[in-house]
Amino acid sequence: MIYITIGHTTKVFNLDNYFSLFVLNMNMEGGNMLAMGGDELLEAQSHIWNHIFNFINSMSLKCAIQLGIPDAIHSHGPNPVPLSILVSSLQLHPNKTQFIYRLMRLLTHSGFFVQQEEGYILTNSSRLLLKDNPCAVSPFLLSMLQPALTDPWQFLSIWFQTDDQTPFETAHGVPFWKYMRNKPKEGEVFNAGMASDARLVNSVLLGKHKSVFEGVKSLVDVGGGTGTMAKAISQAFPQMECTVFDLPQVVAHLRGDQPNLNYVEGDMFKRIPPADVLLLKWILHDWSDEECVEILKNCKAAIRSNGNKGKVMVIDIVLFGNYKKDSMETQLLFDMLMMTLVGGKEREEKEWAKLIKEAGFGSYKIFPIMGVRSLVEIYP
Ligand SMILES: C[S@@+](CC[C@H](N)C(=O)[O-])C[C@H]1O[C@@H](n2cnc3c(N)ncnc32)[C@H](O)[C@@H]1O
Repeated sequence: MIYITIGHTTKVFNLDNYFSLFVLNMNMEGGNMLAMGGDELLEAQSHIWNHIFNFINSMSLKCAIQLGIPDAIHSHGPNPVPLSILVSSLQLHPNKTQFIYRLMRLLTHSGFFVQQEEGYILTNSSRLLLKDNPCAVSPFLLSMLQPALTDPWQFLSIWFQTDDQTPFETAHGVPFWKYMRNKPKEGEVFNAGMASDARLVNSVLLGKHKSVFEGVKSLVDVGGGTGTMAKAISQAFPQMECTVFDLPQVVAHLRGDQPNLNYVEGDMFKRIPPADVLLLKWILHDWSDEECVEILKNCKAAIRSNGNKGKVMVIDIVLFGNYKKDSMETQLLFDMLMMTLVGGKEREEKEWAKLIKEAGFGSYKIFPIMGVRSLVEIYP
């Protein structure tokens, strides 16, 4: 026999009896459910539902980009575009035109469009998805939401229970960079996504913070992808010798179209070409702490002594700065993304400080000038 009090009533249960156990369980569950008021219960359900269906937000936005909806609205000028005009300017099967308003209703709710005078206009977010916007984020969206990168999420819990390196490997059988080498189409979509982000970062860095490159005579963009970042820097500073350094699969076929820009293929874990500044944009978050220390040590060895201008410039997230809830969520989502795709991580300042010290550098400074990302300058 045991005595259990739920709320104001005490019940007696005979535990020798299986049926009594079942009743005990039911009664305890009932007690817990009743502890949550009706409104709280439904709020909790709605919270869970929003999480369950969050992927519909991503996929609907991807669909709008693939159908060219922001560009179609933009092509009609600044006036609101009625649904009928929008529908007629998209390439749709006639049976599907009736469904577009539902896609638009969700994306209007999410802040990508505004409905005005029975028509749609763009918002700042959808303007950033236009094809002819130099800072367009749509190639990044298409690269991150390609099936090769979304499939691994189905394997996250399996990865937690096995000794696989990453959920990406659980899903595809090979690590991320090897997969990209073997699948040129996916690799191209990925590189295009990276290049689009580099254009946006360039516009901020060279637009508002050009002074960070003052006096720099040479720069190597380590893991610089197809060279968008280094190309813009080399144009802004024609006297600076700029090198894009990346894996052969990324740069072997590329040539600099300016005298001060060249491409070098190689492995940053072996040797990095020398320069005053070693730029690491979105590199270190791809790797474990041990691997980051190796890369940073190779950067240190590559720094040319040019007065006091020698430095490593890291563009990455520094977690938990003075950020709003939304930005912190973005940072935490990136952290999960790194864990899932490449086995990397986003880091707090104290974690950065530890890596920098272990790699043998003297000091560093964090400039929170890139939205959820920062520029971290590391000095020998
Ligand atoms: C996340 S992407 C960042 C690209 C570019 N820095 C940007 O932000 O646009 C990482 C880059 O590191 C390169 N990479 C990966 N392993 C490398 C290695 N061992 N040596 C040199 N580059 C490497 C990849 O090919 C890719 O271009």
